[in-house]
Amino acid sequence: MSETDPQHSPPPPTFIYGATRDWAGYFASVAGKPARETLIAALDRFDSRTPAYAIDLGCGEGRDTQELLSRGWKVLAIDGSQEGIDHLLDRPGLKNHPKLTTRVSTFEDLKELSPVELLNASFSVPFCHPDHFARFWRTLTAAIKPGGRFAGQLFGDRDSWATIPDRSHQTLAEARALFEGFDLEMFDEEERDKQDFQCIEKRWHVYHIVARKHG
Ligand SMILES: C[S@@+](CC[C@H](N)C(=O)[O-])C[C@H]1O[C@@H](n2cnc3c(N)ncnc32)[C@H](O)[C@@H]1O
Repeated sequence: MSETDPQHSPPPPTFIYGATRDWAGYFASVAGKPARETLIAALDRFDSRTPAYAIDLGCGEGRDTQELLSRGWKVLAIDGSQEGIDHLLDRPGLKNHPKLTTRVSTFEDLKELSPVELLNASFSVPFCHPDHFARFWRTLTAAIKPGGRFAGQLFGDRDSWATIPDRSHQTLAEARALFEGFDLEMFDEEERDKQDFQCIEKRWHVYHIVARKHG
């Protein structure tokens, strides 16, 4: 086999799939990855004796939903991709899990959410179309009970994907302003360049956030 045989090329980085919304490719590339650090950081801030309810928004193939269920949380897992939900339900023990409900919905169509202690949205919110973002954000934050938390990511204005018309990116000031009425328990700004094996570059400009709504 020659080294240029595509079967022997290194796998593409996951960002390739997000660029084109190839979610099937994305789900395959992240299979087996652990829960996101923002989710863990948020969970560690809750009193573990309190039975609680979470929404995993843009849950994908379920890496965070699985973690929530394993810690005893009741979860509503929402994603626009039926394929993502199918992968999530294929995880061991999740198909008929008594504490799990799933829903297929786009962010653009989401009009109401039940009140929760935790709204988890890992690397998903920026994929909402900008025309719907303000209403979507109001729906999302209104669902968080006083004293409850948001965990997840927003993408910055210097991220490579900020120029894609159907993405919602924020400057640092805009991102912070979205959390009026919250205490920012984590707000880590990450900015770095990543190159794939074909030398396609992506600049990541991401805000990693855990925020507690005022009680
Ligand atoms: C980058 S993946 C993140 C998935 C998962 N939360 C994780 O951390 O791996 C983005 C997810 O958002 C979903 N998504 C993207 N745009 C969406 C939209 N407009 N409405 C609903 N879901 C959407 C995709 O199907 C995908 O599962």
